[in-house]
Parts: sequence; C-alpha cells; structure tokens
Amino acid sequence: MSSTTLYGGAAHRRVTILDLKSAKERGEKWAMLTSYEQMTASIFDEAGIPVLLVGDSAGNNFLGEENTIPVTVDELIPLTRAVVRGSSRALVVADLPFGSYESSPEQALATSIRFFKEAGAMAVKLEGAHLATVEKLTSSGIPVMGHLGLTPQSLHQLGGYKVQGRTDGDLMKAAALDLEKAGAFAIVLELVPEELAQEITASLSIPTIGIGAGNVTDAQVLVWTDMAGFTAKPPKLAKAYRNLRQELLAATKEFADEVRSGEFPTQAQTFH
Ligand code: KIV
Repeated sequence: MSSTTLYGGAAHRRVTILDLKSAKERGEKWAMLTSYEQMTASIFDEAGIPVLLVGDSAGNNFLGEENTIPVTVDELIPLTRAVVRGSSRALVVADLPFGSYESSPEQALATSIRFFKEAGAMAVKLEGAHLATVEKLTSSGIPVMGHLGLTPQSLHQLGGYKVQGRTDGDLMKAAALDLEKAGAFAIVLELVPEELAQEITASLSIPTIGIGAGNVTDAQVLVWTDMAGFTAKPPKLAKAYRNLRQELLAATKEFADEVRSGEFPTQAQTFH
C-alpha cells in the first residue's frame, strides 16, 4: 500500500501479508470478515476490509449444515473463487475444511494447491498447532493463518463451544509462539480470556485476530451474517451492526404484497 494505513492506500492492489505485519508494527488495528460469495465480497472490499475469510463457517451460515464439520473442499472452492472475483483489494484466505489437511503435510499441501489454482486464494487457514504442516506450506509459497482457542472443527473433542485456555493458557501461548516460528503470518484467537489473548498478542510479532478474545488483539473477525444481523440467534461474542434479517424480511413481504395487489410492476418496469 502506498499510504500508511491498510484502509487508505491509493494504489489499487491487494493487501499482502507484509502489509499486515507493518500494520502490527505501527499499532494499526484492522477488521476481517467472512464472505461466501461475490456480492458481499464486493461490498466488504469497497468498505475497506483488508482480509476476507472464506470460512468453513459457510457450513452453518450458507450451506444449511449444523456446524462446520461436514463442509468439503469441493464446496468451498467455488465460494472462494466467487469471493476472489468479487474483490480487488482484500487478501482472500481460504479455510481448510475438516479432513482435508490433518493426515499429513503432503495432504495439506495438495488441498492448499487446489485452493490456489482452482479458486485464486492467497492464503489458507487451518485450526490447531500443525507445525510441520505450517512449515511445509509456507516453504512451498503458501501463507498460513493459524487458529487457536475454540477450534470449531474439534467441537466434539472439546465438548462444546466453550471458552478455552482458562486453566492451560501456557499451552496456548506456547502453541502461538510455535506457529509463528513455523511461519504463520497471523493467528485467530477464538473464545479466549482477554488476559490470555493480551499476553499472546504481546508475545508475537505477527498479528492476532480475535473473536471472543476481548479488545486486545491486533485485529477482530466476525462471521458476516452475525455482523449484519442475519443470524436469528447470534452468539455472545458477536455484535450485530444492523438488522438486515428484518430489512430483507420487510422488503420480501412488500414485494409479495405488491404482486398480490397488482401494484407491481408499474410502467417504470414495463417495456412497449
Ligand atoms: O470459519 C470461520 O468463520 C472462522 C472464523 C470464526 C475465524 O474460522
């Protein structure tokens, strides 16, 4: 970026992992959002969101699944391609789905290469401290975002969506340092006590991205449907900045009413 902020650059190019590192160095906070298709991608890009995550949260927020576990690579690739096509400034990160990277660094590399070649992703995210995998990917030219704390793909192992690190925070701190050493360019901290998130953020030279981790991380991420008020029952960690569910419901009812009453279409939408 030619300017000194992630949001205000005059040069029309994609944000890079180096821009994010510089933002941490100068103490600039930034926002990340999930996106699953081109319409929201273009809006978030226009709003200056520097990083878009094609999260496996597409499972429960786009594909109608109960959680993120069933999502497949074949499902996420077209969504990632749409987000890349819909944006021109944001760094687009593809989430590696459950089962597509845990077996070996080679499996993770093969999956990541598909996201790069078939969808145009610029980085991948994976849950947990798979250090050999992070080394393999980064040494192959694939930037990796880590994810610690509540890792939803391990929902059943963790026994639910619970705050992590209350009693074993040192382990998470060590895992964060290990991920940085292995080459990760940023780490998501999900459902982590604020004090621990602060310690981890201070100990790393790469940015931390919080979700339910207090106001102490270098960046914040929200699932876009929570942020926009589409989710019927949003989690405590989210803030709805609008109530777009109500807006869309009202618009839809108005359209249906106008069709029923014969008010739509008018001459303005008619051809002769
Ligand atoms: O898939 C997702 O949306 C995520 C974010 C919550 C970080 O992993």
